[in-house]
Amino acid sequence: MTNVGLSKIAVIGAGNIGGTLAQRLAEADVAAEVVLFDIVEGLPQGKALDIQESAPVLGFSTRVRGSTRLDEAVEGSDLVILTAGLARKPGMSRSDLLGRNAQIVKGHAEMIREKAPNAVVMVVTNPVDVMAYFVWKATGFPRERIIAESGTLDSARFRWFVAEALGVTPRDVVGFTLGTHGDTMVPVLSHCSVNGVPVTKLLPPEKLRAIVERTKKGGGEIVDLLKTGSAYYAPSAAQLEMALSIARNEHRLLSCSVLLNGEFGFKDIFLSVPIVLGRHGFTKVHEIELTAEERSALEASAKAVSEDLKLLAMMPL
Ligand code: LAC
Repeated sequence: MTNVGLSKIAVIGAGNIGGTLAQRLAEADVAAEVVLFDIVEGLPQGKALDIQESAPVLGFSTRVRGSTRLDEAVEGSDLVILTAGLARKPGMSRSDLLGRNAQIVKGHAEMIREKAPNAVVMVVTNPVDVMAYFVWKATGFPRERIIAESGTLDSARFRWFVAEALGVTPRDVVGFTLGTHGDTMVPVLSHCSVNGVPVTKLLPPEKLRAIVERTKKGGGEIVDLLKTGSAYYAPSAAQLEMALSIARNEHRLLSCSVLLNGEFGFKDIFLSVPIVLGRHGFTKVHEIELTAEERSALEASAKAVSEDLKLLAMMPL
């Protein structure tokens, strides 16, 4: 019998992110069933079967199946992960995806509201902080159950660049980014350490500045290299980190994008902040102290998301 954390996880979108995430979820063996959904006939079924056939070798018990029927894919899920949408091409910002992806996500959110009213929803579709807001509105779910990825991915990139600069294992680098999943994100140097040793004591300011800049453009660096799509290995790993905290009720402290209700001085906006994440969503937002520079960077981040939210409000969806 599988080490069941959840009975059913639905992954919406069987592209590079959705497929890789379904694989990671199956291999983690934390759900009785992982259902991969896509509108392209054969794609989710093919990927799901391919993943399923690795089970005897890898030793997981999760049942993986593909579906092109959204209603039955979503029905009764404990966790629904929205990955469907267009990805960036070189020269595009995540905000350029706003209108098209909102149209795609709308139907998914409405189906979740109807068929999985108790689900926790993880939003991955870009521009993620805006899509999360849209999903929150469309489902009418309490804010605790809508969690968007961005902080976990950007933090992974940030931690890797620090590890690389110091020649230490990335496992020992603790740190996170706050704000939006875009060029105005805030890699937080004041809380980044190598097993408790502040990174500001280990690397010179110019190197730290370069790491911060590279982190902010981390997704774009991959888009420019791939030319035909965006990243999915690190994104799906970061999504797994969140999904495991939910499925295993781990209560990890992770930077994720959630609806703020006055925390950090912001209201009615999704931004990545440190939350505690468990089986029913987040249980707490931790308002950590920031330097004056980090604080004003976070304000710039909030402003960028607000502008996208205004654009979204004007779109006929
Ligand atoms: C990235 C995309 C997935 O940052 O937003 O790689």
